[in-house]
Amino acid sequence: MAIHERIRNHALRDRVVTAEAAAALIQDGMVVGMSGFTRAGEAKAVPLALAARARAEPLKITLMTGASLGNDIDRLLTEAGALARRMPFQSDAGLRRAINAGEVMFIDQHLSETVEQLRSRQIAPVDIAVVEAVAILPDGGIVPTTSVGNSASFAILAEKVIVEINLSQPMWLEGLHDIYIPQRRPARMPIPVVSTDSRVGLPYIPIPAEKIAAIVVTQNADSSSTVLPPDAETAAIAGHLTELLKHEVRQGRLDETLAPLQAGIGTIANAVMHGLIDSPFHDLRMYSEVLQDSTFELFDAGKLGFASGASMTLSAPCQQRVMADFGRYKNRLILRPQEISNHPEVIRRLGIIAVNTALEFDLYGNVNSTHVAGTRMMNGIGGSGDFARNAWLSVFVTKSVAKAGAISSVVPFVSHVDHTEHDVDILVTEQGLADLRGLAPRERAPLIIANCVHPDYRDMARDYLDRATARGGHTPHLIEEALGWHQRLEATGSMRG
Ligand code: COA
Repeated sequence: MAIHERIRNHALRDRVVTAEAAAALIQDGMVVGMSGFTRAGEAKAVPLALAARARAEPLKITLMTGASLGNDIDRLLTEAGALARRMPFQSDAGLRRAINAGEVMFIDQHLSETVEQLRSRQIAPVDIAVVEAVAILPDGGIVPTTSVGNSASFAILAEKVIVEINLSQPMWLEGLHDIYIPQRRPARMPIPVVSTDSRVGLPYIPIPAEKIAAIVVTQNADSSSTVLPPDAETAAIAGHLTELLKHEVRQGRLDETLAPLQAGIGTIANAVMHGLIDSPFHDLRMYSEVLQDSTFELFDAGKLGFASGASMTLSAPCQQRVMADFGRYKNRLILRPQEISNHPEVIRRLGIIAVNTALEFDLYGNVNSTHVAGTRMMNGIGGSGDFARNAWLSVFVTKSVAKAGAISSVVPFVSHVDHTEHDVDILVTEQGLADLRGLAPRERAPLIIANCVHPDYRDMARDYLDRATARGGHTPHLIEEALGWHQRLEATGSMRG
């Protein structure tokens, strides 16, 4: 396709430059807001030019994105020493190492909050935005690609914008996006999203053409998702959750179309959604953050009516299938800014069933989604807190053990708290499900042990609970032993000892 069909403002065609020339606009110490959300729609050329420069001269930036980036961009920027600070989410092994070594300051944020803090100047402003686009409209408006993430607010709030026109991103993405930006306080109105398919904004990011300082033409594809296919354990988790949802229908709290569904990132949450293919539910809706393979599998199975998200992150085979026949899906999809896909106001209004993944949870329902053994960052809280806190039903899933059984994912006390017991309704492992609604801590713990703990750890958990309960308290604990399983893991390589 000719470039003029992509850059529809004639005057802007003069601003097409090399990635190196565009990256030269970024100076040491700047705050840079880049597109990209869970490996979808990230700027692909300018960050690499920036990494090359950082290898040759002192250059460190604060990098904000929507969420994680594909094409190894976080790794390459880290290896080049280009990152001083990084927010609000990442999932790269190299960057994770640098964060845990204290070399990169990582600000792990609720994904709905970053642009809210930027807009109200609670954090340092974005100097320059770098946004991947399908097209630039005659008035300068930017049509994003496979994610919206934080791109709209970055572009609106930054002084200058670099646009990467990606020729490999198909034109039919145009029209998929719904860009709504909340008004400034005190004149802010309610966000008018009242159902998963509400269109309340513009199909492009509205910025004046003058703000576009450089345009770079690229053609690298998005990276594929890394989620693994469902296995016996994730299928068992999905089975337990399906039984619970059937129970909710029998109780008259839901009908067979359920409530709008949110599924977290990763293999387990994807597999749980996949499990709904073989359920009696129908005409489902998703109001989620990342649309993964399972979204399109549910469409294909005739189970899903509509899906709203902030990005689409698919495996290579699913991507091929969906891209080849996108017309089938397009009018049943919306991509929104993550501030809206994850907004507490909307999540509470729609009454969402939120399914997110824990690294570990404890006997009372506190959940750790981010820190291995209490100290080492995995990926970040992402949107799990936005959804868990405000959902109609907040579910956390995990396999009962990790690392070939050396780690129990159910522990006496979580080693880091992302979601407090107050934000968690249902816990599920392949062993079973614990429905915590309406239960006091002393009622929760025996249920979690009986239903969720792996048999190898059940006696240890019961012993801890019995001795803690004998000592008393509303939430019984042996404070000196509460992290004893983690200590044993650090000392011996196994929680079993
Ligand atoms: N202690 C240490 N490691 C653990 C663990 C524990 N208690 N539980 C799981 N792990 C390890 C697994 O062994 C696996 O390691 P590997 O990559 O070396 O094989 C890794 O964590 C991922 O676990 P997996 O079982 O494959 O689950 P996943 O892909 O579904 O990811 C999270 C799980 C928690 C890491 C991921 O969901 C996440 O980052 N969540 C937080 C953000 C979030 O929820 N966002 C969604 C909001 S929309």
